[in-house]
Amino acid sequence: MTDVQGAAISRLRAAGCVFAEEEAEILAEASAGADDLAAMVGRRAAGEPLEQVVGYADFCGVRVRLRPGVFVPRVRSELLVRLGAAAVRPGDVVVDLCCGSGALGLAVRHRVPGIVLHAADVDPVAVACARDNLPGGAVHQGDLFAALPPGLRGRVTLLLANVPYVATRHLPFLPAEARDHEPRTALDGGDDGLAVFRAVAAGAAHWLAPGGLLISEITEAQTGPALAAAAGNGLTPTITTDDDLDARAIVSRQP
Ligand SMILES: C[S@@+](CC[C@H](N)C(=O)[O-])C[C@H]1O[C@@H](n2cnc3c(N)ncnc32)[C@H](O)[C@@H]1O
Repeated sequence: MTDVQGAAISRLRAAGCVFAEEEAEILAEASAGADDLAAMVGRRAAGEPLEQVVGYADFCGVRVRLRPGVFVPRVRSELLVRLGAAAVRPGDVVVDLCCGSGALGLAVRHRVPGIVLHAADVDPVAVACARDNLPGGAVHQGDLFAALPPGLRGRVTLLLANVPYVATRHLPFLPAEARDHEPRTALDGGDDGLAVFRAVAAGAAHWLAPGGLLISEITEAQTGPALAAAAGNGLTPTITTDDDLDARAIVSRQP
């Protein structure tokens, strides 16, 4: 271990990082030299998520590029990727709505090369980040479906929508990394956390192909109202959970 790395470990430990050694190694690998490492350690010690500091997250077998201020893909979202990938074949249209970094669409495409992937987000920083990850791909900016090319109406086989779903009153209880370094638009789902999901469910029927799926992550407490929102918009919803990932998905099928 070099003196520089030793100093990095000490600084991270002093800042309360539980995995100071491992993080120092990751930061050293990602840095361009001693000054760069010191700057990165400073950002991490100040509470910025490790993935934003190093500029990437490893998610579902793909390395996803990240920018400061962009939602860090969560391990639990692997459930959405697994369910989505199982439902599509090459040539199918897949939309990653509320795409953030584009991690979900990228991971589905990694599993099923040949899908026709579109991604969209309202946040210009997220859109720039998704363009980093999907170079030459179709990444659109705008509010939910308004961002999508009208030609996709009725042709979407898979609509992934990992919408913000934290109830507003729960935001203060999120870890500081999320609260302070991820934008509120990426987290805040309104009164019961389902405001954006309801808007997506309301529009989905116009965009899904017959038999197409809308897949979203929710909490256990949101199960009943989320099922009602999907069914109320003509979709047939089911719930899938994964205890190991602590994940719950609502999968809504277009008749
Ligand atoms: C929970 S993050 C998920 C990001 C990404 N799908 C992932 O799983 O890593 C939610 C994303 O929804 C976007 N978003 C919030 N409201 C939106 C809206 N009205 N239209 C489009 N995107 C929106 C946020 O900017 C954020 O990137």
